[in-house]
Formats: sequence, structure tokens, C-alpha cells
Amino acid sequence: MKRDLLSIRDLSAQEILGLIAKAEKMKAELALGALSKSLAGKIVGLIFLKPSTRTRVSFEAAICRLGGQPMFMTAQDTQISRKEPLADMARVLDRYIDAIVMRTFAQSDVEELAGFASIPVINALTDYSHPCQVLADLMTIHEKRGSLENLTVAWVGDGNNVANSWLNAAGRLGFSLNLACPPGYEPDQELLDWAARQAKTKIRLLTDPREAVSGADVLYTDVWASMGQEREATERMEAFRPYQINSQLLTCAPPHAIVLHCLPAHRGEEITEEVFESRRAPIFDQAENRLHMQMALLDWMIGSRRL
Ligand code: CP
Ligand code: NVA
Repeated sequence: MKRDLLSIRDLSAQEILGLIAKAEKMKAELALGALSKSLAGKIVGLIFLKPSTRTRVSFEAAICRLGGQPMFMTAQDTQISRKEPLADMARVLDRYIDAIVMRTFAQSDVEELAGFASIPVINALTDYSHPCQVLADLMTIHEKRGSLENLTVAWVGDGNNVANSWLNAAGRLGFSLNLACPPGYEPDQELLDWAARQAKTKIRLLTDPREAVSGADVLYTDVWASMGQEREATERMEAFRPYQINSQLLTCAPPHAIVLHCLPAHRGEEITEEVFESRRAPIFDQAENRLHMQMALLDWMIGSRRL
């Protein structure tokens, strides 16, 4: 049966840990020039209705590194721009290609595509979630810390798509997630409730970033206005000003805590230049791991199919 990745909740804890181990193994194999071409003869379509640097390029690179062929599409160069239903597009593309990676606005778009396509569909970011990002981030934390046991992550800022995927990850793996968000900018309530109900998961929704980072192993932030929210940028700037990751906030965190950011970053807004460029913030190692995690995902879904 085909598997989709629309949300981290589509994966069991065992599968998430398996993907992390696989991604670390494939990272080492790539460095040695020993990767197997497990996507040889496979075509992966990438439908991107929003801009992207990392997700697009890391997916295309992952597909090429594994011997497959990426095919990039936007709204303008497909009939999406003329409102062809995704249900129809799904049933056409699955006769041509082997998997679809989609970045779009509504989560219901990737659900519709996956529901109608007989091939795997991977969510490459929606307004609601960004599972590929958080899977790669878990790999980075595992690499840097050696384990995901007794982990506390502090999310500082907007309760956005990436924050929602952190809730899914915390619920599945059973770690502690402190979220400091301005009132009115909390993550999805259903996800908060679901994660809080999971065994071993500890969710704290706070308004004070100092309280959130105290005792945390990882501090995480993202832009204050996500793609599609550009018109709200000025009012968001006011609400989010106290939620900047800066050296003063870092003094409230344990000395071993690292700072992660999914990128692109707005220096001087959600993170200062000083923290961004510091040794506490292995943000480019984090970005690199998008490639390795997506190689693991593709190999699992349409390549060797082993985890
Ligand atoms: N982090 C991330 O998804 O970056 P892009 O928007 O550049 O893909
Ligand atoms: N929350 C951001 C993430 C970008 C990778 C956005 O949706 O724009």
C-alpha cells in the first residue's frame, strides 16, 4: 500500500526514529560516494504554489543523488492556474510519475491530491504544517545531542505551520515542548489538545519566552509573518517584538542549549544577527539535513522501501 506524508502524525514513533537513523546512514554514504541509486527510473513531480529555496532544491538534489528524475511544476505552467481540480490532476499524474511533492496553501490540497492519487504524496509545506522540516530538525537534534531522550524544545514566536508540526512530533515521540506565543498567535487548538493527551508528551503554552527557554535543550524560532501573511507584517511586528531570540534571552536557557531556525530568517526580527551567526546556532547544518532526511523519505517511500 502506498504511504503519504501529509503530517508527522502519519508516522509512528518507530518510523520517525527509523527515518532519522536512515537519514544519518545515507548522509554518511553520500559523503563516501557510496549511495545506492535506489530511485533509478523513478520520476518525482514537485508542485510548488509558493516560493522555496531549501525544500525545492533539497528535494531535487535528493532525487538526482538517488538516480531519479525531478519534474518541477508551478501553478502558472500547469492547469492549476485555470482551476483544474487537484482530484483530476492527481489521477492524471499518477499515470505518468512515481510520487508527488507539493507545497501549497491549504492542507486540504495535499489531502485531496493524496486521496485521489495512487502514488505517494509528500507535503512540502502548507499553511498548517511542514512535516519535512521538523523531521530534518529532529535528525539535527539527534546528531548534535546524541539522543532524543528527555528532550525539551522551546518554540518562541508564531504558532504557525512549523510550530504545528512540532506539536505532532512531540505527541508522537513523547518529549516536552514549551511554546511561547503572543496571545492570539497560538498554534492549532486541536493539535495542542491532541499532543497534550499523548503519553509522556508535556506541552506548555506560555506567553513569556524566558519561562519557555528555561530548561530547554533547543530554542527554535521562525519568521513572524509566514508566506501569505505579508499584509499582516506590520501588526505582527508589534505583537512579536518581545519574542525575539537574542543574547539576553539565551542567558535564560541552559548553557548547552542550541538555537535552530528553519530559514529563511529575518535578522533583527525573530532572531538577532549575533545569535544567528553564533556557535550556539548550527542553522546551516540544520538546513543541510533537509537533503539527507528527504533522501531517506524518498528511499523509504519509492526506492528500496526499507526503513
Ligand atoms: N525551510 C524551508 O522550508 O525553506 P524554503 O521555504 O526555502 O523551502
Ligand atoms: N512559517 C514559514 C516557514 C517557511 C519555511 C512560512 O510558512 O512562510
